[in-house]
Amino acid sequence: MSQQQAVITIDGPGGAGKGTISLAVAHRLGWNYLDSGALYRVLGLAASRKQISFDNEAGLAAEAAVLAVSFGADDPLLGVRVYLDKDEVTDEIRTEQAGTAASRVAALPAVRTALLQRQRDFDAPPGVVADGRDMGTTVFPDAPLKIFLTASAEERARRRYKQLIKKGDGANIRALQEEIEERDRRDSERSASPLRPADDALELDTTEMSIEEVVEKVMALAQASQFVR
Ligand code: DC
Repeated sequence: MSQQQAVITIDGPGGAGKGTISLAVAHRLGWNYLDSGALYRVLGLAASRKQISFDNEAGLAAEAAVLAVSFGADDPLLGVRVYLDKDEVTDEIRTEQAGTAASRVAALPAVRTALLQRQRDFDAPPGVVADGRDMGTTVFPDAPLKIFLTASAEERARRRYKQLIKKGDGANIRALQEEIEERDRRDSERSASPLRPADDALELDTTEMSIEEVVEKVMALAQASQFVR
């Protein structure tokens, strides 16, 4: 990969606002958007449907290699529309249960390897905003702009709660915070591409920031770097 890459990586824990921010920045720049978490979520769903055990690393990696996942236009509330085969699964992959399944399959090194090239293929002109946990460390290590978004677990639970209520789903804020903390632990403690900022990532704590403020900040950083005009 060359230094001329037009790649912005946005990593961080679940609920830090990566999806919303990445999508908004991709829109503003007219770039592609990679929601890498959706790949792990769809794999978790495919595994459940095909009854592949979350302990069966080789079976899950084989499934990852042939996973018929595709992306469509954005949904204002749910982000990019996601399909497994011809079936729209946008909503189904956004449940807490699907998040936990994703986090489990994502902990397996063979699964991560099987999904690597598919993620790199999103690096196509005019550029890509890549959202995930290991975009800056593993998938696009040469990206010229790397952001690591954080927010307190309490604030992330509050944001998730508001999202669920807006969708008309019930939610318990304490249970959400516990799930978020448990997922942070699993994502950070795994040996394969754990959640951590790349050495050259800029960390942005969004606890006290609005979505618009974060988007403006990332746009300013992108414009200050030489690869965005
Ligand atoms: O960003 P998300 O909540 O959709 O991600 C779901 C899970 O997938 C998350 O708990 C960890 C995993 N994941 C990952 O391991 N690496 C990525 N690049 C993106 C997501």
